[in-house]
Amino acid sequence: MFVNAKEMLKKAAKERYAVAQININNLEWTKAALTTAQEMNSPLILGVTGGAAKYMGGFSTVAAMAAAMDKSLKITVPVAIHLDHGSYDECLACIDAGFTSIMFDGSHFPFEENVAKTKEMIALARKNNMTLEAEVGAIGGEEDGVIGAGDVADPAECKTIADLGVDFLAAGIGNIHGVYPDNWAGLNFDVLKQVADLTGGLPLVLHGGTGIPIEMIQKAISLGVAKINVNTECQLAFAAATRKYIEAGSDQKGKGFDPRKLLAPGADAIKAVCKEKFELFGSAGKA
Ligand code: 13P
Repeated sequence: MFVNAKEMLKKAAKERYAVAQININNLEWTKAALTTAQEMNSPLILGVTGGAAKYMGGFSTVAAMAAAMDKSLKITVPVAIHLDHGSYDECLACIDAGFTSIMFDGSHFPFEENVAKTKEMIALARKNNMTLEAEVGAIGGEEDGVIGAGDVADPAECKTIADLGVDFLAAGIGNIHGVYPDNWAGLNFDVLKQVADLTGGLPLVLHGGTGIPIEMIQKAISLGVAKINVNTECQLAFAAATRKYIEAGSDQKGKGFDPRKLLAPGADAIKAVCKEKFELFGSAGKA
């Protein structure tokens, strides 16, 4: 069931669990995430970066494919399709394309400009019954060409952005996209707590979900994180399973070259990651 992310994240913040944003790259990814959410009775957010949308043929293609699949597979759990780290123009494109939720990432702008543009986007999102995520303090690392410095957000700035009326807020707390380096300092829980105190129950978003230790995930959820984004982990799992299939020579046996066979182990591996995340984040059974 296609919806915006308002109710699912309000419920998650209130009951102290997190909804997974699983970033998608193609049809197999979308199907794996949707069917696992349905099997586990979990709400789901499908994340789409500008780069992934370009790869799949544009925002309209992705939105139409996901919506049609949601319907054909008779998915009854709530599913939002959400633009990840959108620029101003990408947000406008997703409003047109039929997304149900957008992230406007103005974290790299001077703060006043982030405020002004976020405000504009909130009004547009409201008008179109969409939810809006904003960001303060750039998430580190690189994701589909979006490069962030890994800042730690200023809690006062988070409050200013939250007070504009955003539906959920991503605050940089030392998290980064991609695999964490060995010398990573961990999440800054002092800042997370200050942000949570100042924004009074607003669902907070943790980007860079790949590779964060379980105890840190649980602590972040206990402090108000209600959405956790996962991208790289599914990519690594897909690649490893596909590699294994090919290295075993399975593509050269019988009709093993058929894409429905060749891509099946990778899709199953994505399903396994989704299942693990729904359980770890506590969203299983909460649809
Ligand atoms: P990872 O790729 O580190 O899981 O991060 C995903 C993310 O934050 C998407 O915005």
